[in-house]
Amino acid sequence: MNPVDDVLSSEELAERIQGVDGVLSMVTDRIDRALMEGNPGLKVIANLAVGYNNVEVPAATEQGILVTNTPGVLTETTADFAWTLLMAASRRICEADRFVREGRFTAWGPRMLLGHDIHGKVLGLIGFGRIGQAVARRASGFDMKVLFYSPGGIATEIVAATGARGAPLEEIWATSDFVSLHVPLLPETRHLVNDTTLGKMKPNSILINSSRGPVVDEAALVRAIESNQIAGAALDVYERETEIEEGLLRADNVVLAPHIASASHETRLEMCMIAANNLVAGLRGERPTNLANTDAWERRRR
Ligand code: DGY
Repeated sequence: MNPVDDVLSSEELAERIQGVDGVLSMVTDRIDRALMEGNPGLKVIANLAVGYNNVEVPAATEQGILVTNTPGVLTETTADFAWTLLMAASRRICEADRFVREGRFTAWGPRMLLGHDIHGKVLGLIGFGRIGQAVARRASGFDMKVLFYSPGGIATEIVAATGARGAPLEEIWATSDFVSLHVPLLPETRHLVNDTTLGKMKPNSILINSSRGPVVDEAALVRAIESNQIAGAALDVYERETEIEEGLLRADNVVLAPHIASASHETRLEMCMIAANNLVAGLRGERPTNLANTDAWERRRR
């Protein structure tokens, strides 16, 4: 594993992986087919994340390399953070903080830093897995109407417990005051938020992304923000992490965080323990608890 919080270049990664049996990988480590083929001894890739789009999973499965992730443990922490982003953007917390620090709070005014209410509004969740559902539960405390879109279908009892209602995407874009993204990055979710879909959102609406950056076409988002097509955005992830569109950096009504949705002391420690246990299990020839590519098990490298 990379012992420091720094992104390794593909060359550095290739060099460090040379000859190892297992890798405890970060979401920023792109582990592709070439890297796997160049390391015939590599048996386990234990990703320190629930998402594992940084690993070329079909190639790993083909070659019998086990890929694991850290699901479940970060659900509530990530939902807390999606909620934090929603509240920060709607009540303009980052702008307010800058306003005070810059010495601009010289008088109270009735029109100063007006934001948007959260309670009673419509929240559209795109993706309704564990994290989306946890966000829905938070919304019920704010008397919100919650709509969700989940292509895979969700059990009726789960839906009932969250108080949310399934809706077509078109209805979510057109009626939501907040749209929060909770989908994995897949070919079909890449640029799900684009000029067309942003064009369907309401002018008072706010986009929240704590899923994966490429789900949003960032250039289109800048256009939507600059033309006041939507009221704001709050992002934890970026299309070309760690590069960020200049237009987003300039926009006051966009809250930006550095991919920290699961970054609480408690959750990160648990994620590390889970990833380490998955790695050790795989290296011992035991089936790791969080095996993501189950098809690799029978043909695992030994
Ligand atoms: C995840 O778990 O997928 C996060 O993005 C990284 O913690």
